[in-house]
This record gives sequence, C-alpha cells and structure tokens, in this order.
Amino acid sequence: MGLRILVFGADSMVGSHFVAASPADWDISTAGRTDPRHDGLRVASFDRLDLSDRGATMSFLDRSSSDVWVNFAARTDVDGCERERQPEGTPDNRLDSPGSAWNVNGLFPGWAAARASSSGRFLVHVSTDYVFDGTRGPYSEEDEPSGLTPLVSWYGYTKGVGERNASGYGSTVCIVRIAHPYRARFPKKLDFARAIIKQQSSGTLPRYYQDQTITPSWIPDVTDALQLLIHRRHGGTVHVGSPEPTSPWEFASTLLRELGLDAASAAPGTFRDGAKDPGRAPRPERGGLALSAIDRLGVHPRSFREGIHELVDALRDEGHPTSAAPPP
Ligand SMILES: NC(=O)c1ccc[n+]([C@@H]2O[C@H](COP(=O)([O-])OP(=O)(O)OC[C@H]3O[C@@H](n4cnc5c(N)ncnc54)[C@H](OP(=O)(O)O)[C@@H]3O)[C@@H](O)[C@H]2O)c1
Repeated sequence: MGLRILVFGADSMVGSHFVAASPADWDISTAGRTDPRHDGLRVASFDRLDLSDRGATMSFLDRSSSDVWVNFAARTDVDGCERERQPEGTPDNRLDSPGSAWNVNGLFPGWAAARASSSGRFLVHVSTDYVFDGTRGPYSEEDEPSGLTPLVSWYGYTKGVGERNASGYGSTVCIVRIAHPYRARFPKKLDFARAIIKQQSSGTLPRYYQDQTITPSWIPDVTDALQLLIHRRHGGTVHVGSPEPTSPWEFASTLLRELGLDAASAAPGTFRDGAKDPGRAPRPERGGLALSAIDRLGVHPRSFREGIHELVDALRDEGHPTSAAPPP
C-alpha cells in the first residue's frame, strides 16, 4: 500500500491542487469544516473538525492512522484577520476563541507537531513570507519570523507563531513557506494572477506597485515540492517561489503581455500609496522568499515568467477567452 496522508485544508486553493495531483497509490484522508468531495476531489474519507477546537483536534489526531499529516488550513483573509489584532503579550486565554486566526494559524500547528512527534508521524506545515516584516526580503530559510510590529499583519504574526509552535521537533516537521500562490483554475477563490485577468477584463485594474518585492509561487511547483519533501521526509524549513523576484506591477504587465492584452493598462503605483488604503492590513514591502533548500534537493521552482507562461498555456488549453493568438 502507498502512503497514508491526512490533509487539513484539502478544499483550500493550494491544498486542493496537492490532493488532485497526488500519486494514485496515496491514500488521502481529510479533516476540516468543508467536505472537499463537494468540489469533486477524490479522497478516501472526510471527518468534520474545527481545527481551532483543541480538545476535538487532539482527540482526532490521536485516532489518526495516517503516516503523514499535511496542513494547508489557515485563516488567510489578511484584512479580515487584522480585525482580530491584539497587542503582543496578550494572555493566551484572551486570544483563544473558536475559528480565530490565533487558534488556527498559531496554535493548531503546534498541537499537530507535538502529536506528530510523540506518535512517529511526519508533519508538513504550509506557511508564508508574511511572517516577515518586509524590510529586507527576499528572506532566507534561516531568517526568523518577525515579532508583532506595525509592519507585520495579525495574519503574518499568527502564522509566525504557528511556525514557532511547530518548530523544535527536528526532522518530524517540515515548514514550507510559499508566497503569492497562483494556479490556472480554482473557481472558489481568485489568486493574485487570476485577479489581474479579471480586473483587466472588467476595466477595474488598480495601480499595481512597482516598488514592492514579491516571489510568486506557481502552485504546481508547490505540489511537486511537497511530494518530494514527503517522500524524503525532509524536515526543516523550505521555501518555494519564483527564484527571480519581481514586483506586482512587473508581474501584472508580463501576464497581460503574455495573454496578448494591453500591458500598458496596468499602471504602476507605489507601495506607500497603497498602504494608506483604509482597512488594509500591513503587507511586506520588501518581501518574498530566497530559495536554497529546495534547489539543494534538485527541485527548481519556476521563475515568475515561466509560471506565467505555464498559466497562459493552461488557460488557452481550457479555451479561456483572451485576445491572444495561440503561439506559432
Ligand atoms: N493564498 C495566499 O496568498 C497564500 C500566500 C502564502 C501562503 N499561504 C498559505 O498557504 C496555505 C493555503 O492557503 P490557501 O489560500 O490555499 O487557503 P484557502 O483557500 O483560504 O483555504 C483555507 C483553508 O483553511 C481551512 N480552515 C480555516 N479555518 C478552519 C478551521 N477553524 N477549521 C478547519 N479548517 C479551517 C478552510 O476551511 P473552510 O473551507 O471550511 O473554510 C480552508 O480549507 C495556508 O497555510 C496559507 O497561510 C497562502
């Protein structure tokens, strides 16, 4: 029999690609709030579980018969999470609440890592470059997540807390950071790239920043990396993203050009102007991820240009309406 894998957040934008592309001999079970089978994903089982509930989660983990646990689950609405923001040092009992970013992003990874360690499982936990304050990215795998400062969102801070809580278990845990993930198809949620296409078609493109550093992760590369890390049970911290940093404006212009659309419709803006938007949580200005561990393992994630090329090819294969002629 192949590996038995338990996936949290199987219906997520990144996790559903991992599940759909998993090797045929993997036995995938899932747990969470939403049954991924409703999205057409083929999994062996689904258990309803709120990952912010410590008692229910611990008892579920104790019953798990899977060899590997993979966690995509998170509160990912960066501006929504910001409304839960509390000062650093607020006592845990005041932060602990059902469905909160604190519990799902911060506490759950620690619960899972502790149980994985005591029961001989391997845990892969997906995280983000938003754990960094964005003053000097792209960040290396050795850089420590920042504390809570005005530059770090509550989302990023709670994800950093989750990383810290899942750390210290040696090769039991692999933390995989990704950044601005994008894929060709995921009807439930727009990613960075598909948002640009939609905004262009509706004439609502905002100004994309030309002075922000990002390293977008092509989701099929994330899936490939996760499969390798699972096969090798590679512990530690691993970054997966574009080896060539870019800016949102360069990414948007390149994507529109590749689609055969008017690249000039993406007008450049500045990060500092956008940061003034009311209700907007802080984002890393010089963010992104520098890759070294994944290269050493022989996997080379696509640059943002190559990822865009793959994306546009996949959209054309699906008959996506663009003004682009097929390549000669
Ligand atoms: N999207 C990005 O831009 C980005 C960037 C960098 C890193 N990441 C990381 O990549 C991972 C996947 O992100 P994504 O954008 O693919 O996620 P997503 O589509 O927003 O999905 C989030 C997942 O978390 C689950 N979840 C949230 N709260 C839960 C709870 N209390 N109990 C059980 N499940 C809960 C959701 O379940 P329901 O469907 O039931 O709500 C859903 O499956 C996350 O760890 C995220 O931090 C994402």
